[in-house]
Amino acid sequence: MSLELKLSGKAAIVTGGSAGIGLAIAKALYSEGVNVAIAARNSERLENAVSAIQSLPTPGAKVISINANLTQATDVEKVVSTTLTQFGQIDILINNAGSARAGSFLELGDDVLLDAWNLKLLGYIRLVRAVVPHQKNRGDGRIVNIIGGAGRTPRPGFVPGGTTNAALINFTRGISKELAQYNIRINAISPGATATERAERLAEQNAQARGITVEQAKAETIQSIPLKRIAQPEEIASLALFLVSDLAASITGAEILVDGGSTPGV
Ligand SMILES: NC(=O)c1ccc[n+]([C@@H]2O[C@H](COP(=O)([O-])OP(=O)(O)OC[C@H]3O[C@@H](n4cnc5c(N)ncnc54)[C@H](OP(=O)(O)O)[C@@H]3O)[C@@H](O)[C@H]2O)c1
Repeated sequence: MSLELKLSGKAAIVTGGSAGIGLAIAKALYSEGVNVAIAARNSERLENAVSAIQSLPTPGAKVISINANLTQATDVEKVVSTTLTQFGQIDILINNAGSARAGSFLELGDDVLLDAWNLKLLGYIRLVRAVVPHQKNRGDGRIVNIIGGAGRTPRPGFVPGGTTNAALINFTRGISKELAQYNIRINAISPGATATERAERLAEQNAQARGITVEQAKAETIQSIPLKRIAQPEEIASLALFLVSDLAASITGAEILVDGGSTPGV
């Protein structure tokens, strides 16, 4: 038996596709022949990401970048309409853009909570709401929400991210039955510590909140993972590709943890 993904010719949106996990997923989709639209704020980073993606071998896919601040509902609409204009269809949505701050709870104001909820919770929900009518008409859709372990296993120093992620698990599972009637599958991947720029920033914020060095914070993170390794973004990308392929045709409403065994649960 061979694990053929058969994704060539499909079209995808990857939010936060200019760095980290999103960039790894965009690269993996493009390499499989999927036309990819990456959305993020910083234009220079977007251009660099497009060049990096285009340097990969592909069976004929295209990549475009869309400048968007996904805290804004109008930019969500722009991402969807631009992708439809360029590619004519949206088979795959990878909701990934997120940047919640870590820090001591008593020092975090409403602004930090609202930033996290606006970008990741409302941003993901708005994108699903915007692509579903199109996918419903086609009778096919594949959505992956990149969430995070703090949704299920909260930490005092990560309340903005933890509350966002808990709500997104609820949303992903809750909406899956409604979308299933249109053959739209929606699943979640919850990474643990993954080697990206964001992980570096979080280690700095954690260290500051706890009065320890960044090196100590990173060493503690690795020590706390049963498999003693930080995940690579490509590992999250491989799982995302599987979930959006027909190999996962019966999987919807699931959340899969990629956290080195940190949070076993029932
Ligand atoms: N890395 C980890 O250890 C880890 C663990 C658990 C969960 N996660 C989740 O995985 C996802 C990706 O994380 P990552 O580590 O790959 O992050 P990253 O390296 O910081 O990349 C974040 C991406 O999102 C974009 N982005 C940020 N704010 C945005 C906004 N307002 N509008 C549009 N795009 C925006 C960034 O580009 P611009 O800044 O240019 O907009 C960038 O492309 C996040 O949802 C995160 O919560 C990560």
